[in-house]
Amino acid sequence: MRPNMVVPLFSSYPRRCETIISRLFGSRVVAKASAPGKLILFGEHFVVYGMPAIATAIESRTVAEVQRAEEFSLLDNRPETPGYKKEKHDQQSDSIRRMLKAMGLEGKKVRIVLGGGLIAASGVGASGASCAAIAAALNEEFGLGLDRDKINDVAYEGEKGYHGVPSGIDNCCSTYGGFIHFRKDLKTGKSIIRQLHSKARLSIVVGNTGLTSNTTKVVGDVKAKRDKDPEKFQRIFDNYSKIADEATVSVEKGDLVKMGLLMNMNHLLLEGMGVSCDELEELVELASKNGALGAKLTGTGRGGLMIALVTGEAGSKIASVIKKAGFHSEIMNIGAEGVKVIR
Ligand code: MEV
Repeated sequence: MRPNMVVPLFSSYPRRCETIISRLFGSRVVAKASAPGKLILFGEHFVVYGMPAIATAIESRTVAEVQRAEEFSLLDNRPETPGYKKEKHDQQSDSIRRMLKAMGLEGKKVRIVLGGGLIAASGVGASGASCAAIAAALNEEFGLGLDRDKINDVAYEGEKGYHGVPSGIDNCCSTYGGFIHFRKDLKTGKSIIRQLHSKARLSIVVGNTGLTSNTTKVVGDVKAKRDKDPEKFQRIFDNYSKIADEATVSVEKGDLVKMGLLMNMNHLLLEGMGVSCDELEELVELASKNGALGAKLTGTGRGGLMIALVTGEAGSKIASVIKKAGFHSEIMNIGAEGVKVIR
């Protein structure tokens, strides 16, 4: 099921008019789209095994500009955690190749420029956001008329270039926006998405370890550990299932205290699966000691980001304590709009 929301279609009509005008008068019009990053509030890694996860789109976005050109080129102007773009360069090339193929545009020569305020970093859905934005901009440039669901399918193809066989939660979040309850049906491979409406205004502080993680590797390591000790992992999975059910209710009700407790529990399970690291533990501890309702790693782990649920003054206090400890930190606005074309 697709999220129950009013979704404007990506009308290619204005774009076609622009293309005709540009051909008549010789000007070059660039197709542009933007998509938000994401934070996983509950359920990273568990989601790979068919369990539910809850994620939200954040206000920072990646902007993709696409234009037909004499030859293929990519200019990546996104701000980054140092080293991120270099480390992901080959995966990014594979990702774009996959998306062009999925859209029937294989071999087409385009100039792609990436920008926007979303920091290219692990944990924030940087690849998912860029895939959704590129897919939507290509759709505009070539007047394909794909709707949001199809854009999401293309972005998922792009995500495979980065993450092997990802669950698809990141591209769904970047495509549809808001808060999503996500589950992957492992039998059919289909994403089951439900838009959540929270009664509370959630405030999240992010702490960045500054370390880039490799999702394919970390997901593979978790699988190897599970194969080695299936009983331990079954216990962890059973515990998480209860957390996931309660988390959905607490997000919808806006029960922040409960949500915070569940985030702490979720983090402990992730730590038990071996996906935390010293820097993430330090960030979780700093947030917890300075008034967070709950704190956990978010995304792949072994680097990337920590998120803390906060109320009132605690947010700025935690952000400044984290900065003093030498990490980047910011208070994030969440529940943002999904991918959109920029005119
Ligand atoms: C990455 O943002 C989240 C993981 O659960 C991987 C996935 O869902 O594909 C670690």
